[in-house]
Amino acid sequence: MGKAIINRDIVKNKISRHIYGHFSEHLGRCIYGGFWVGPDSPIPNREGIRMDVVEALRKIKIPNLRWPGGCFADEYHWEDGIGPREKRPSMINTHWGGVTENNHFGTHEFLRLCELLECEPYICGNLGSGTVREMSSWVEYMTMDGKSPMADLRRENGREEPWALKFFGVGNENWGCGGSMRPEYYADLFRRYATYCRNYGENRLFKIACGPNTDDYHWTEVMMRDASSVGHFENKLMAGLSLHYYTVPGDTWQNKGSATEFSMEDWDKTMKKALHMETLVVNHSAIMDRYDREKRVALVFDEWGTWFDVEPGTNPGFLYQQSTQRDAVVAAIGLNIFNNHSDRVRIANIAQTINVLQSLILTDGEKMLLTPTYHVFDMFKTHQENDLLSLDNLPEKLNGSASVDGKGVITVTVCNMSGSEEQTLDLEIRGIKGDSPVSGTILTSDKINAHNTFENPERVKPKELKGLAMKGGAVKLVIPPAGVVALQIG
Ligand code: AHR
Repeated sequence: MGKAIINRDIVKNKISRHIYGHFSEHLGRCIYGGFWVGPDSPIPNREGIRMDVVEALRKIKIPNLRWPGGCFADEYHWEDGIGPREKRPSMINTHWGGVTENNHFGTHEFLRLCELLECEPYICGNLGSGTVREMSSWVEYMTMDGKSPMADLRRENGREEPWALKFFGVGNENWGCGGSMRPEYYADLFRRYATYCRNYGENRLFKIACGPNTDDYHWTEVMMRDASSVGHFENKLMAGLSLHYYTVPGDTWQNKGSATEFSMEDWDKTMKKALHMETLVVNHSAIMDRYDREKRVALVFDEWGTWFDVEPGTNPGFLYQQSTQRDAVVAAIGLNIFNNHSDRVRIANIAQTINVLQSLILTDGEKMLLTPTYHVFDMFKTHQENDLLSLDNLPEKLNGSASVDGKGVITVTVCNMSGSEEQTLDLEIRGIKGDSPVSGTILTSDKINAHNTFENPERVKPKELKGLAMKGGAVKLVIPPAGVVALQIG
């Protein structure tokens, strides 16, 4: 039996709730059919927004939502998405299936969605194909409180008060779909565009620069060297640097592997590739530390998750995949890693919320289901805004993190990365009463590829973890293969 130790008295940094963020792109059925059905739809909605998904996401305390992309962000022209919907021009979504985008879901609709979700909007601007003026005037449109051309236009479109907007991305993947740039070139563009994204009234933007793809350490080096310290005092242009990495078990992008039909070898590869997130965070952070010892600039892991071959028979450009017990373990690994490195990782966005890649929610017409990934976010939500605790000596096949809230209640989350063997753990918690109350939930399945379908939407769901007892400051756990556990102690 493995023995791990938590030290209640050694309290580290706060875990930002924004690590538990989400991503919504104009891609496949994430926006249309996912969040947005339109006010005339027979599917229950408020002002066109599906309320079943809003309620589900509020339950897991969604802290922020990134929009409109992704690759789509760098071909999106925000002025096409305001004003009367029937008059909005359409465009071709060249990245995602070449479908016609009617711009019915635009700035007002997205910001209304965030109000209903009670979360912070995270908007990504168009640096790849848009002008400095276009990006600058979008910020003015959303946040200018006084009288100005853009604020007046916003009022004409029915919104008197400005919105509070904090997170703003200055382009997306500008090394690839966002313009195929070199970091030296992008660093200068970031400085230029970000300069004109103004702070109006009380609003303070948290500007996020496009960061590296996976292990492109040169990109991080150049961005930190050439752009991280530009600006004055608290008004430095760069508040965050993004990082994108997807867990793809296949050896090529043409053969990523099936989301639901996989072998134990595929399982092991997936776990290894998910754990690679930690290597990336450590290595990119080490570069950032050389330029920013105080850790002022956040590492923003704003695209992560599994990426498999699309479900057979679906549009390859729509990236629709199922989410199984394997995805639940990948989600747990990612969130544990972010918690454990939350001194630098302060925002993260799993890709993507509904019907695209590692979704939390799948919809089919008026039907909606919650995936195993959703349940992991639900089980982990009590880490949000807690203080991180160290969790030492975990056996090799277990991955976990621990934190404590303001009332002294400890959350421990652990997943079993073995798809075939149960793991036993003796978890000692130093610095608490030896007989403190303990309760827990477990997400487990009879099969590692178990998933929820519209015919059987509750096949995989969390259950109470029975038989837990704290004796002499320690609790014993038996975690089945591929199991995910969350404990509350104290
Ligand atoms: O999430 C799907 C796509 O993956 C995003 O649009 C892009 O930023 C990334 O390459």
